[in-house]
Amino acid sequence: MTQDELKAAVAKEAIKHVVDDLPVGVGTGSTANFFIDELAKIKGRIAGAVPSSERTAERLRGHGIRILELNNVNELPVYVDGADEITEHMAMIKGGGGALTREKIVAAVAKKFVCIADETKLVPVLGKFPLPVEVIPMARSYVARMMVKLGGQPRLRENFATDNGNAILDVHGLAILNPLELEAKINNIAGVVTVGLFALRGADVLLLGTGQGVRTLTRK
Ligand code: A5P
Repeated sequence: MTQDELKAAVAKEAIKHVVDDLPVGVGTGSTANFFIDELAKIKGRIAGAVPSSERTAERLRGHGIRILELNNVNELPVYVDGADEITEHMAMIKGGGGALTREKIVAAVAKKFVCIADETKLVPVLGKFPLPVEVIPMARSYVARMMVKLGGQPRLRENFATDNGNAILDVHGLAILNPLELEAKINNIAGVVTVGLFALRGADVLLLGTGQGVRTLTRK
């Protein structure tokens, strides 16, 4: 099976977690795009979708799926999104596509986070994928120095601004043995908007696409 076929399979499986007549939170990225395409087939059953990026909003609109603003949503039973890396403890690195801040906000509101990923994303230790950190532009050199102190090698994502008008540092060379602790530490650095570590609010369910079919893992 190709990676795209695995992504399509988990996207299909994720539809089972969507709750009728209520809104659904929708992530960003190539795997989330497969989910949006599946969601289009059942759009009449949902109240609408809360997007985690401008890109996702555009794709949802393209399918005629109603967009809801997060501030107007009282109840969000589920958020479906991909990940750049995930452990079996459901901690993730996200933000490869730069949408980490809105992703973290929608995930925080949602009752259940369903992560959809192909098997290449499951890792024993996070950090091989460079950790994205969204920063206020004037703080980028300061935050970069702090990342060096934490053992990483930060690189500014060139020619890139987030949906919120900020910069992204991609931090290479970290072996993240304690994601909860590192997330809290980076959150505390002045000028950091969001770190792409999702451990404090990790996934509740992982739908993992494998050659043998979709595996379902749940938070212990
Ligand atoms: C977007 O900012 C990211 O957090 C994505 O969820 C992550 O990069 C996964 O993307 P793919 O599904 O394209 O691998």
